[in-house]
Amino acid sequence: MRVDAVTLFPGMIDAPLSESIVGRAREEGFLDLGFLNPRDFTEDRHRTVDDKPYGGGTGMVMMAEPVYRALKKVRRKNSFVILLTPKGRRFDQGLALELAKKKHLVFICGHYEGIDERVTPLADLELSIGDYVLTGGEPAAVAVIDAVTRLIPGVLKKDDATVNETFTGGLLEAPHYTRPGVWRGQKVPEPLLSGNHKLIAEWRRSRAEELTGKTRPDLAARGPERKPARGKKRILK
Ligand code: ADE
Repeated sequence: MRVDAVTLFPGMIDAPLSESIVGRAREEGFLDLGFLNPRDFTEDRHRTVDDKPYGGGTGMVMMAEPVYRALKKVRRKNSFVILLTPKGRRFDQGLALELAKKKHLVFICGHYEGIDERVTPLADLELSIGDYVLTGGEPAAVAVIDAVTRLIPGVLKKDDATVNETFTGGLLEAPHYTRPGVWRGQKVPEPLLSGNHKLIAEWRRSRAEELTGKTRPDLAARGPERKPARGKKRILK
């Protein structure tokens, strides 16, 4: 998958996505990540990318033109353009699964007070990672690219690691344990030591339901996510 980020601070995305599983996915060619800095698309001596907001107020607003030019350079027919903003649709695992099917994602990261509203129609989707305000879209892009990359076939050695996990079946995941069998007086639950796969699956299911009901009653109420009927519910266009 090709991913490009339009950002004034490429290092905020490049550095965290150079480590661990995503770092390896980049080295192995599963993810081809590129950056465009709106500053490189300015024409004035000071390479200006922001200005004061019309109507007054604190902070600076990113200007539309450098972002537009960066996007124009990178956008192709099959690109899906995502504008990161706390005003956007809330990101979740269902959306990650949809985005993982795309050939080319382009993330537009606002910084300071945001970007001139007139760039919004250039995006296919306005996306938020949660109800809080970050310093910019960059940490949000990192979260989304991370969640999508691990769903690209081949990135995780065992593809079924993404099947049983938290959210995929509409439930939080059952807890995990590793050696030692007793740690500071706490024992690993008996069913996990039984070697009986049916028993283990039942124990995991019931712990997942219990945990979801306790900490995420909203998810429990929604029930398991069903496959959309053919041609019916499409999350993205
Ligand atoms: N930019 C600032 N805060 C954000 C958020 N919560 N999600 C996406 N982009 C953002």
